[in-house]
Amino acid sequence: MEAKDAGRKVILTGDRPTGKLHLGHYVGSLQRRVELQNSGKFDEINILIADDQALTDNWDNPKKIRDNIIEVTLDYLSVGIDPELSTICIQSALPALHSLSFYYMNLVTTQRLSRNPTVKSEMKLRGFSAGENGNENEAGLPAGFFTYPVSQAADITAFKATTVPVGEDQLPMLEQTREIVRRFNQTYHRDILVEPDILLPENESRRRLPGTDGRAKMSKSLGNGIYLSDDEKTVKTKVMSMYTDPEHININDPGHVEGNAVFTYLEAFSGKDAFSEYLPEYSCLKEMEEHYRKGGLGDVKCKKFLLKVLEELLSPIRRKRADWEKRIPEVYEILRDGTKRAAERTEKTLSEVRSAMRIDYFEDRSIVKDWEAWVHGTQEG
Ligand code: TRP
Repeated sequence: MEAKDAGRKVILTGDRPTGKLHLGHYVGSLQRRVELQNSGKFDEINILIADDQALTDNWDNPKKIRDNIIEVTLDYLSVGIDPELSTICIQSALPALHSLSFYYMNLVTTQRLSRNPTVKSEMKLRGFSAGENGNENEAGLPAGFFTYPVSQAADITAFKATTVPVGEDQLPMLEQTREIVRRFNQTYHRDILVEPDILLPENESRRRLPGTDGRAKMSKSLGNGIYLSDDEKTVKTKVMSMYTDPEHININDPGHVEGNAVFTYLEAFSGKDAFSEYLPEYSCLKEMEEHYRKGGLGDVKCKKFLLKVLEELLSPIRRKRADWEKRIPEVYEILRDGTKRAAERTEKTLSEVRSAMRIDYFEDRSIVKDWEAWVHGTQEG
């Protein structure tokens, strides 16, 4: 059984369906997924809509998760995720993941979970406190939220993923997964689970896109995002009011490029041909940046250029989305098919896991003999 999986290159990625996806998601992961999908280098590509994980900090709002499953799926389809090549599936409809999580919980200590830096910073963000006598303004720490890295390890290992393309913030989850894999294989003396590798975004400017307000991260809660589903007018308004350099007041003042969101976006999105097409007076971004630094290049001009660059990217995505929006029943079938395939895949891993743990009682009748020997005192060894 182990040999059959050997050498297969399997991708698993996922998103929490808590909102529509924005440019930060695009540069950080979606674009990469499409490239990987079209590279033909992988035997299997799975994209998990992690609705159960989303519930760990939205348990009181399942409607939000339910609604956003369709938003996220439409985003996938409109950026070029092809359901023929990539399996899109819904986490909560994969019961094997729940079973695996439960077994993995035994292989992880609460102390280890408390050290997870991503969970720690998310706890702060949400006002959860782990202390027994946290102050009254702090909410207690829900066990489901606290253990979601274990459930993510179940996601990854259930598909026997070898490659997990995610952002840097997911490094602790991958580390935790690898530990669980080693622990499992060692404890149950079988080489069943696969240690995954993380695949980080290549380009530095793509690792984390700042918000339009210049803050470190584009996020829904900060209201500083440009969404893949935003119409042209909305994008224009957002770009024209973007944060630049507060010290660049008059055109002739010298300007800063570092920390200037417009330039960070240009770095992330402007391709080689953008200049010859829309701003031929510069041959490349470096030249434009030099001019800005010296003084004499106005923000409005930079923003208008950025808008053209973004529209070139966003308008085909928008068109595809509009098309899929007319075919929601088809999108539903895509999710159903993908989830069915994923269910088979993950059930298979679960039976291997149960067999390694020797808790596959109704799959392996030899237990009747073992029990007889046990009861009658004739058991060997
Ligand atoms: N934790 C991931 C995020 O917040 C989402 C996720 C859930 C995921 N399960 C996964 C990512 C498995 C990669 C693999 O973005």
